[in-house]
Amino acid sequence: MSRHSLALPDLEAARRFGAALAPVLAAGDVIALSGDLGAGKTTLARAVLAALGLDEEAPSPTFTIVQTYDAPPLRLPVWHVDLYRLETPEDAVELGLDEAAGDAALLIEWPERLGDLMPPDRLWLTLTPTVDGGRRLTVDAPGAWDKRLASLFPVAE
Ligand SMILES: Nc1ncnc2c1ncn2[C@@H]1O[C@H](COP(=O)(O)OP(=O)(O)O)[C@@H](O)[C@H]1O
Ligand SMILES: [Mg+2]
Repeated sequence: MSRHSLALPDLEAARRFGAALAPVLAAGDVIALSGDLGAGKTTLARAVLAALGLDEEAPSPTFTIVQTYDAPPLRLPVWHVDLYRLETPEDAVELGLDEAAGDAALLIEWPERLGDLMPPDRLWLTLTPTVDGGRRLTVDAPGAWDKRLASLFPVAE
């Protein structure tokens, strides 16, 4: 496990991080987007989706729970998931998340709801508001992400 931290002072910084993450994403990746309501989880997911080739603004999956995106037009299939309304981790099985992980990348808001069903090799992003109105992004990455992290964080911290 390694941990990185970076400031996302505004929407443009969030867009840039999403644009840096998108090219290294591959099918089977699970990206956890953690943080309170309003932390900026959907904003980051939108930035990734836009960088993968989505032309319109991605809707928030708050009500639908899952929004799926095909490739093409995206570079790879993506499931954008918001588990806020999930009552038990077992309910996630019905959503088919584990089958989706075969050929899609998963962007999961409220990943805590999955409990032990969250795969251990996920990239875990935590967003926290800062006093200046921006966000701090903490990235917790398993070893499997080491090489790809080098392109996200080229300068050792
Ligand atoms: N890095 C950021 N800096 C400043 N404002 C942000 C940032 N990320 C998101 N926001 C703003 O925070 C609000 C909530 O963002 P959203 O992505 O919907 O949060 P969440 O999905 O975590 O509930 C939006 O108005 C968005 O413009
Ligand atoms: Mg959201």
